[in-house]
Amino acid sequence: MRLRPKTRAGLSAEPADDRRVVPCVIVARVEQTDWDDLKAAAVEVMARAYAPYSSYPVGAAALVDDGRVVVGCNVENAAYGVVLCAECGLVSQLHAGGGGRLTHFVCVNGAEEVIMPCGRCRQLLFEHGGRDLLVWTVSGVKPMSEVLPDAFGPDDLTHVTDARGAGPDAGGDN
Ligand code: THU
Repeated sequence: MRLRPKTRAGLSAEPADDRRVVPCVIVARVEQTDWDDLKAAAVEVMARAYAPYSSYPVGAAALVDDGRVVVGCNVENAAYGVVLCAECGLVSQLHAGGGGRLTHFVCVNGAEEVIMPCGRCRQLLFEHGGRDLLVWTVSGVKPMSEVLPDAFGPDDLTHVTDARGAGPDAGGDN
């Protein structure tokens, strides 16, 4: 499945012949029908969840900045703590398919209702979509900066690396 969002130059891969492609970044504008398609992809993959312990299947779908749609479903385990949330599979598919950034995300339960990604998975999504990732939440579409405020992320690690480089251990003669 491949959505054709009107998000950024290059994303709308097949413009109609009479449309001029403007070579600039355009503010994300994904229509409700695109969101509906994304949710349909989440519902479809939810049906393939392996959730015999919780009986709570979850499906997740996201749009990537190159127009791909990636999906995932939860996969549980007899050792309960080993559960893989739907978002784990989605992120794995993102990278297995060549990487990229997530731009739009939704996940659903077995009743086909939109649900919130769990706390751990918000962190996972933040890593691969950042503050601007749009999430269809139980209270409407929100940027990740609201779904996971003041998030810890890759930039924080860079900051610490810089600080250590200048610290007492730099040079390492011990
Ligand atoms: N689950 C997900 O797959 N993603 C979430 O964001 C919330 C929770 C799964 C994990 C477990 O298999 C089931 O839902 C019940 O917690």
